Amino acid sequence: MTTRQNEAAWIVQDRAPLVVQKAPTVPPGPYEILVEVRAVAINPVDYSIAQLGQKVFPWLSYPRQAGFDAAGSVIEVGDRVSRFRIGQRVVGHASHFNDKDAHKKPGYGAFQRFTLLTEHMASVIPDSLSFEDASVLPLALSTAASGLFEANQLALALPSPTPSPNGLSLLVWGGATSVGLCAIQLAVCAGYDVVTTCSPHNDALVRKLGARASFDYRQADSVEKILKSLEGRTLAGALAISGIPHTADIIEKCALVVDRAQMEPGRRRFVASAIPLGKETEAKLRDGRVEARFIWGSSLAQSTVGAAIYADFLGPALEVGTFVAAPPPLIVGKGLEKIQEAFSAAKKGLSAQKVVVSL
Ligand SMILES: NC(=O)c1ccc[n+]([C@@H]2O[C@H](COP(=O)([O-])OP(=O)(O)OC[C@H]3O[C@@H](n4cnc5c(N)ncnc54)[C@H](OP(=O)(O)O)[C@@H]3O)[C@@H](O)[C@H]2O)c1
Repeated sequence: MTTRQNEAAWIVQDRAPLVVQKAPTVPPGPYEILVEVRAVAINPVDYSIAQLGQKVFPWLSYPRQAGFDAAGSVIEVGDRVSRFRIGQRVVGHASHFNDKDAHKKPGYGAFQRFTLLTEHMASVIPDSLSFEDASVLPLALSTAASGLFEANQLALALPSPTPSPNGLSLLVWGGATSVGLCAIQLAVCAGYDVVTTCSPHNDALVRKLGARASFDYRQADSVEKILKSLEGRTLAGALAISGIPHTADIIEKCALVVDRAQMEPGRRRFVASAIPLGKETEAKLRDGRVEARFIWGSSLAQSTVGAAIYADFLGPALEVGTFVAAPPPLIVGKGLEKIQEAFSAAKKGLSAQKVVVSL
């Protein structure tokens, strides 16, 4: 064990506020790096875990460390790590959310001074990118990548830092969400023409990040307008994302577009959804013309897509500017003690911004 004294914002019991207290500093094992965390971002799942706990996530065990989005500096590298060295500035998806034995294995979780990251879920960031700006990326990026590229989701072609158009279109519903802003850019870097939905005040942002057109999701004729904009084009599928609270009807709207648009030959009519499907939606899709599946962003750590995004794509794309960190951070304070307060700020709901705490 290293002698650095660590501290974490722990979840000590089900549905209880975070408690800042000592934590072990766990040395990195093979393919792991130890990172001094300088900024963390808050995702809807962070405050959902705190609020709903085992009612919604029955495998959670306590006490456990929390947090997905970390940016900081590498201070130790484990055996067999080939992509990182001490002193590099990095961003990564720091979580053991899927692990039912997580309480026995501290060390992972963004909300601490020193976190472990696995090599294939972390990327070097350019010197010009602040830790706070970079910290908005990981879970949103993992979720978008899972929906777009996993074999049991849309299974699209992987992105490249130097993209070229492939002549196919994609619908990203909810383009101004954190997940959506990553999805638009990933899809454009994979060569797709992207149409999206957002509030009119976010139209300039989503088009700057590469969407060809955006439509106001609150308008009753949004589906018709999207279909019109896809005339003469070939669709590869749709990614459904909404903010909080979830609005399940967006999956059905995406399914309508996918059902009626001209599809890429040989491709199933498919909607990858960042929000749970719900029984009503499942019943409506039962005729089987369009398939929809819930995305689990944390699953990226267990698939080859994780390395394709974090090892092969993100660092070079940030460097050349074909992928940028978005949305901008709303920095609500400094220190682990501020994270619980940051949950309240995030829960209020933001438009194309993400709550961030500096450490
Ligand atoms: N399954 C997973 O693994 C996973 C992981 C991460 C997130 N998620 C889920 O993905 C969703 C997005 O998360 P996030 O962190 O990206 O959220 P976020 O950044 O907080 O999303 C806020 C944005 O939601 C947009 N929005 C609200 N209602 C909408 C609707 N009906 N249609 C389209 N856009 C809508 C708003 O856009 P405008 O401002 O333009 O109105 C707002 O900017 C959440 O439901 C979250 O729970 C799932």
